[in-house]
Amino acid sequence: MPPPDTETADLEKPMGGTSAVGVKVENLSKSFGSFDVLKGVTFDVQPGEIFVLMGPSGSGKSVLLKHVVGLELPSAGRVTIDGLDAAEPTTREKVRMALVFQAGALFNSLSVYDNLALYPREHRLAKESGIRDKVMRALQILSLEHAAQKQPSELSGGMRKRVAIARALVMEPQLMLYDEPTSELDPVMSATISEIIATLKEQYRVTSIVVSHDRELALGIANRVGILMGGKLAYLGSASALRQPQDGRIEEFLHPKIDLKNPRFKKLEN
Ligand SMILES: Nc1ncnc2c1ncn2[C@@H]1O[C@H](COP(=O)(O)OP(=O)(O)OP(=O)(O)O)[C@@H](O)[C@H]1O
Ligand SMILES: [Mg+2]
Repeated sequence: MPPPDTETADLEKPMGGTSAVGVKVENLSKSFGSFDVLKGVTFDVQPGEIFVLMGPSGSGKSVLLKHVVGLELPSAGRVTIDGLDAAEPTTREKVRMALVFQAGALFNSLSVYDNLALYPREHRLAKESGIRDKVMRALQILSLEHAAQKQPSELSGGMRKRVAIARALVMEPQLMLYDEPTSELDPVMSATISEIIATLKEQYRVTSIVVSHDRELALGIANRVGILMGGKLAYLGSASALRQPQDGRIEEFLHPKIDLKNPRFKKLEN
């Protein structure tokens, strides 16, 4: 794998970034039947900012991201992107945004190369030779050149994740949404992904919302962090303030101690 500085250097060639967009989440609530997942969540993401959303499994992080791209509609409240309602299909035509899904969501019938080329071909962003350059550069950034002709079924979980990120890079988005971009990756590749997210912000003012359990990523690159618990934001503030000890449940979430004398699973049996 090339050293990280080679990869960030590659990003210096045009890769997205037109005008940065801001995101406002206002009193967002979402219920599935009688199950209230989000109960009035409010925060905003400034243009060009990296906002990291953390929270326990099942707390509604993926559901919240889907509201930003209009894949879920609010039960109450709203999400706007530069003042445009995220629930309106036309917003997706006006703002270039890419969501890196938790499980990759690659097209299984297409090779890795064709998965990446799909968006620029459909939107006629460049001639085939230009698309090839964009695709190969994105693959190179994610150390995936050798995988261009593979089918998604031939990839490891971590490779699928990297292909999904490469595909999002090819879209040259103003707004990047990542759902667990570093899960399933080894520590060096995780650090590389964090560097890519930070570089997109620095060089192209891409606005990013990153859902992650990865404390290193959150503390290393976030401007601000939100922690979702019980349908509400239990923490909203700077990444640096999170280094200070927090109150009970946030501290337990960030620094859980393995306690064999008093194991947590016993509580599950009650
Ligand atoms: N379409 C749906 N219909 C019904 N329930 C749903 C739907 N989508 C999500 N949920 C429920 O909403 C809750 C939050 O789901 P979500 O996927 O947002 O969790 P998460 O915070 O992303 O968790 P993880 O860290 O495990 O990915 C879960 O209990 C899930 O079962
Ligand atoms: Mg999720």
